[in-house]
Amino acid sequence: TLPGEWRHMDRLYSDSIRRDVVENPEILQVRSDDCFVVTYPKSGTTWTLEMTRLVMNYGVTSTKQHNILPFLELKVDKKSRDSTLYDGFSMTEKMESSRLVKSHLPVGALTKDLFTEGCKIIVVARNPKDVAVSFYYFYKSEKESFGDYDGDFHHFLRMFMNGKVLYGDWFTHVLEWWQCCRDNKNILFLKYEDMKKDPRSATARIADYLGYDLNDDVIDKITEHCSFKNMKKAPAIESTVRKGIVGDWKNYFTVAENEAFERIYNEKMKGTGLSFEW
Ligand code: A3P
Repeated sequence: TLPGEWRHMDRLYSDSIRRDVVENPEILQVRSDDCFVVTYPKSGTTWTLEMTRLVMNYGVTSTKQHNILPFLELKVDKKSRDSTLYDGFSMTEKMESSRLVKSHLPVGALTKDLFTEGCKIIVVARNPKDVAVSFYYFYKSEKESFGDYDGDFHHFLRMFMNGKVLYGDWFTHVLEWWQCCRDNKNILFLKYEDMKKDPRSATARIADYLGYDLNDDVIDKITEHCSFKNMKKAPAIESTVRKGIVGDWKNYFTVAENEAFERIYNEKMKGTGLSFEW
């Protein structure tokens, strides 16, 4: 149960998300130098944003520039539920260029101008079993957003597999973005598992994609600054940094759950050209 939950195009949203933005994507005025980081929740969004922010700041960690990462669709302060304190959409509108914007919105809820105005779009995806575990912990910890969710992991996994969680079905969300990346060659698609395996290349790919010519030392510095260990210590972001590994799902799924998941996964991913490591 989400406080004030509502649906649009078969997806679940909560009243902390601006409905007008989701229902009228065209009200977002994009700028050609915008950079959007779009993900399904719990896929390494904060990590990627931090890398991207530092790339845009040439590795200078202390600078205030680009420090604001408005969460496009959110409109309330989660603690007080006061919509005057945090409205990502209004903040985005007022932000100076170049903007770095985070969103979990599906392709269809973002303006088409995003794809025609030359904006940079970084899509990050993560294997859905680990996403389910991470999302479960998020539901448990974010009491203000999810009420007092008191189900166990197995209950949550059923909700997740039925697409009855915030932002809806993982498969629909990720496959729509994946298709979008195939149609628009100018989108950067990253996988969490690849970033874990070789974080330095992820930093270098982001820099290259955004057109920042950074030397090796700067790439190293950004990568190190964004390591799990360091991000876990950063007060502003530490709450989204939990375990940061590939394969934590093995500690949660029963054999039967895994088999059921694999059946759905194989069916939905077949022929898409997209696959994940577990
Ligand atoms: P876990 O809950 O599996 O640990 P998001 O930012 O999209 O909400 O994603 C959160 C997930 O990314 C969490 O996964 C979190 O631990 C992981 N994460 C955050 N920073 C990370 C980093 N620097 N390296 C690896 N994983 C990181």
